[in-house]
Amino acid sequence: MILSLENQVALVTGASSGLGYACADGLAAAGASVVVNYNSHAEPAEALAEKIRQRGGKAIALGADVSNEEEVEKLFAQTIEKFGALDILVANSGLQKDAPIGEMSLADWNKVLEVNLTGQFLCARAAIKQFRQQGAQRNVSRAAGKIIHMSSVHQVIPWAGHVNYAASKGGVDLLMRSLAQEIGEERIRVNSIAPGAIATAINAKSRDGEAGKNLLKLIPYGRIGEPEDVANAVVWLASDLSDYVHGTTLFVDGGMTLYPGFRDNG
Ligand code: BGC
Repeated sequence: MILSLENQVALVTGASSGLGYACADGLAAAGASVVVNYNSHAEPAEALAEKIRQRGGKAIALGADVSNEEEVEKLFAQTIEKFGALDILVANSGLQKDAPIGEMSLADWNKVLEVNLTGQFLCARAAIKQFRQQGAQRNVSRAAGKIIHMSSVHQVIPWAGHVNYAASKGGVDLLMRSLAQEIGEERIRVNSIAPGAIATAINAKSRDGEAGKNLLKLIPYGRIGEPEDVANAVVWLASDLSDYVHGTTLFVDGGMTLYPGFRDNG
């Protein structure tokens, strides 16, 4: 079977930079029409949509804050208006607001949970309603719709100084698995990707100098990931090549979850 997403429509949240940008680019390269969602940075999102169109693909940039119910509803309505259907959701938007527990404000706790977890709930719910409405007559993939949640290795690895972020990703894991259990019989596939240390703006500081050397010690495969490593996994999970993969998390982490500290310890 050949990997192709032709005639399919994908929506990627938080696609103006980092993982979302690479995923939108990769899905378009595989043939999907793509909605490049952004929250505050319209320019790079518009530029990506234009780049995709220049090479013969279909794309549009649409602004929406994924933690805002009304804006999410509008984002999905605009997607359907533009492309007539939805087949793939990559619920990617996420952020970090790090602080030791004694200094973590309620505002920073809430913000991370609202974007990383509530945002994924709102987008998944909207996608499922759309998949149901399209029903069986939409015949572009073996599944009636595919949802890919962007999680993190921190859905399993505790992370001091980042309790809001780790809690949000732990939540994404059970959101994903509970949804997969609930709607699998409707042939809607739900999975997560759990990236490790991927070179994006979110971890720029921890990849620099001495911190960067320490970070590498946590990665058995010996390199920091590239956004394309994640995009390639997303494209596969969105395609029929992974049709029997449901309710699972694909770790794209160079082995970070192998706890390499135990190689010479324990
Ligand atoms: C975080 C990054 C971090 C990586 C590995 C990701 O989920 O967003 O900041 O480098 O996990 O710890």
